[in-house]
Amino acid sequence: CGIIACVGTNDAVDRLITGLENLEYRGYDSAGIAVKNGHGVSIYKQSGQISDLKNTIVQNLPDGEIGIGHTRWSTHGPPTDENAHPHTAESERVAVVHNGIIENYEELKSDLRARGHEFESDTDTEVIPHLIEGYMDEGADAREAFERTIDSLEGSYATVALVEGHEKLLATRQDSPLVLGQQNGEYYLASDVPAFLEFTNQVSYLEDGDVAEVSAEGATITDANGEEVSRDIETVEWDPEETGKGAYDHFMLKEIDSQPESLRKTIQGRVDPEAGEVTLDALEEGDLEGVEQVHLVACGTSYHAAMFGSNLMNRRGIPATAHRANEYTDTIPVDGDTLTIAVTQSGETADTLTAIRRAEKKGAQTLAVTNVIGSTVAREVETPVYIRAGPEIGVAATKTFSSQAVTLSLLAEHFADDLPQGTPREDREEFLAALERLPEDIQRLLDTTEAERLSRHHLDKEAFFFIGHELNYSVALEGALKFKEITYEHAEGFPSGGLKHGPLALVTPETTIFTLLGSGPSTQTRSNAEEARARGANIVTVAPESVNVDDVADERLTIPDTHPDLTSLLANIQLQLVSYYTARQLERPIDKPRNLAKSVTVR
Ligand code: G6P
Repeated sequence: CGIIACVGTNDAVDRLITGLENLEYRGYDSAGIAVKNGHGVSIYKQSGQISDLKNTIVQNLPDGEIGIGHTRWSTHGPPTDENAHPHTAESERVAVVHNGIIENYEELKSDLRARGHEFESDTDTEVIPHLIEGYMDEGADAREAFERTIDSLEGSYATVALVEGHEKLLATRQDSPLVLGQQNGEYYLASDVPAFLEFTNQVSYLEDGDVAEVSAEGATITDANGEEVSRDIETVEWDPEETGKGAYDHFMLKEIDSQPESLRKTIQGRVDPEAGEVTLDALEEGDLEGVEQVHLVACGTSYHAAMFGSNLMNRRGIPATAHRANEYTDTIPVDGDTLTIAVTQSGETADTLTAIRRAEKKGAQTLAVTNVIGSTVAREVETPVYIRAGPEIGVAATKTFSSQAVTLSLLAEHFADDLPQGTPREDREEFLAALERLPEDIQRLLDTTEAERLSRHHLDKEAFFFIGHELNYSVALEGALKFKEITYEHAEGFPSGGLKHGPLALVTPETTIFTLLGSGPSTQTRSNAEEARARGANIVTVAPESVNVDDVADERLTIPDTHPDLTSLLANIQLQLVSYYTARQLERPIDKPRNLAKSVTVR
């Protein structure tokens, strides 16, 4: 879900709508805003997309100087008008937006019910305005009522409240991000920076337990102990242009096309092929002392980047394993010898944060590979390493996968030198030179139209499988994930050797199998593809241009020749394009696939 709030502008409604549009990638099944304009609190909210809300509001809502807004990704209760935020209590004196989950909401609800409160929604959030109003009825002022409310909440939350008769926004966070932006007497509170980036890039990050009171006169923050504190103001260097679609129909294609540029930024100043060196400023001498094993924890696309990274580390002698963050439970042995790396674009994924916190508690060293400066993960781990991909808006991650994979490659090289079991590869110079050339190789690939053409005649199949071995296995999984996310077609990724151990039962002439081949003989994958082809499957190979695929391919996608450790990253770009153009043919809502959100901040 996404939160935006503002105060100190004359056009709060406009600002909130812009903020919500910027945040749409965090959830888009319902949205709403509340503003105060001298005549009490007015609320508009409804199920559906932000554009629907905008149409309703423009006709009805008087402008104001202070307001809150929310775009929802449903957790408790379906996406109905009633369940949309802001939530309020009977008298509508208090309006509240909230991200996260109030774990004790049922208990709170029944206490409130016993005291005569009636609820309209199925959400956990609705208890917050009722609690605030309840305390105000007992004589508390807005601030006190807000604080007493927070004291009774359990779970994770970022919440902003608007209270009639109180000229300030009241906000707090606990395990869910909330940032404060400010410029010339305008103040913004949001779940993440892109919400208000076109209005200000001066940002402070609230800490857990902080309570912020924000008006046009300024922001005061008290910490969990009630002490007044000041939180540093940082300048966010992201270009607001990057959060716009430009001439593109979809963010996804814009972001696919921007990969040469984003990868240049990822490697800038970090790679010196001639000297055979990798420099990662975040890692200081002695930082990795005592590390015997590496665990990578991540979700979704980031997990596939983590698989890619762990395989590269293994190739350099390092015992590294990738874990889906939700499965990184207490049964996994972790101790002081472990370095646990959280791989997370947003730095806010609740499952990944839980995993890294668990590792930290067990004494592991912690590192994060993330895109978002100031994100929760970046602030919690010992060493944040940034992928520098710039803001990504499309829900289907593309450029950040590439930048994560490349950043992990740099870490693998670093570990090869610095960890006891690390063994630098003999062809390190060639590998680093190929990394440096990757942006050009990607550009060459983007200038071709193979994927677009292939997508035009592939819609009649019933299932789409993606197979590969080792590094290509991680990309097979990623290719299938992307394809199912945005086309809604049945897509699955398998290790090529695993096909014959079960999935082959699903193969018919109505199956297309994207077969990822490396620059070597790929003997195993070829025979696996043959086995499927013998059962009628249509084989589309994704292979370097110098590799002959005539014996196995019905159709082919070509990628530039590069170092064997990097072919998968080029193959992945072809697969991104195939997913994009297929979804486009099917007229899917590419940037906002149903039921998904870019950053899932609940467990
Ligand atoms: C969600 C998104 C995925 C993303 C995953 C991890 O599931 O829909 O696209 O890969 O979260 O997000 P993160 O920000 O941790 O990389």
